[in-house]
Amino acid sequence: MSITILGIESSCDDTSAAVIRNGVILSNSIAGQKVHEAYGGVVPELASRAHQQNIIPVVDQAIKQAGIQKEELSAVAFTRGPGLLGSLLVGASFTKGFATALDIPMIEVNHLQAHVLAHFIKQNEDDTDQPQFPFLCLLVSGGNSQIILVRAYNDMVVIGQTIDDAAGEAFDKCAKVMGLPYPGGPVIDRLAKEGNPKAFQLNKPHIPGYDYSFSGLKTSFLYLLRDELKKNPQFIEENKADLSAALQYTIIEILMDKLRKAAKDLKIKEVAVAGGVSANSGLRKAFEEYAEKYSWKIHIPPFAFTTDNAAMVAMSGYFKYLDKEFCSMDAVPFSRIIL
Ligand code: KG4
Repeated sequence: MSITILGIESSCDDTSAAVIRNGVILSNSIAGQKVHEAYGGVVPELASRAHQQNIIPVVDQAIKQAGIQKEELSAVAFTRGPGLLGSLLVGASFTKGFATALDIPMIEVNHLQAHVLAHFIKQNEDDTDQPQFPFLCLLVSGGNSQIILVRAYNDMVVIGQTIDDAAGEAFDKCAKVMGLPYPGGPVIDRLAKEGNPKAFQLNKPHIPGYDYSFSGLKTSFLYLLRDELKKNPQFIEENKADLSAALQYTIIEILMDKLRKAAKDLKIKEVAVAGGVSANSGLRKAFEEYAEKYSWKIHIPPFAFTTDNAAMVAMSGYFKYLDKEFCSMDAVPFSRIIL
């Protein structure tokens, strides 16, 4: 039997719809929101309005690109949270109307679990490059930095997480103080390629277990700029590449140190990375180096599945469909949900 799921993602500033059939991706349509660039961060009210504008055309495009009729859909999966409440409400309300009109079930999806399950999306029917359970997943985005032990597609436990800022936030906030545009992560990534990672030494946290902290690094970066700018007002301009390289290097060291410790303690050799920061070229390279050094089997997502996308929501929905885990019409989004 063919199971065809429409996924809807609207948790932050990307409106996305995707179709997955029996785990194979048929389409993944995304409308980003340029409106936030002028504000240096996502403005929740503007995000909700843009979702409201984009949702119908994006769904229409996803269905057309998949080459299916909407009557072929088995269910609609939507992101219930975590995320911005106004943004989530657009996706949830659309899903209710759409599912009711087609008389098909509705499936709620946890956005964080969806990032992990993106690794199971098949590019075609012969694609067998999926992780084996149990595996560790480093989930790094603008709002999260977590190490997740994935025992099954419906059994995940967070074994470490940030106690303050997320890794993406550290990239974005440090980029902001350097006067770089939002989001800063990709800009730092580009500049770092030309710089010397050892040019400046930045603070690394000393906290127990598998938890992360990035606020000390952010402060040490800020103080470095403040002190050097007193001596040379052109300091940032003249050292942009080295500052970016040092920042990126330190963030990656912090992330990989704890991940290596967790993999060693739990004797797990299968390790994945997910979330927006997994697009970072330095982090991808570090994964490849660790795979070589510690005999890890690594899973790095295609770029399209690093940032928010509905394909991962549809994939999660597919697993839940197999378990007949549907939700009722009174399901409401939550801005905060634990894994
Ligand atoms: O998962 P995501 O799209 O959504 C949120 O959590 O909001 O992650 C966005 C984050 C931002 O902080 C952005 O700067 C970061 O991912 N990011 C990167 C790169 N591409 C996106 N950080 C470092 N290097 C990149 N190439």
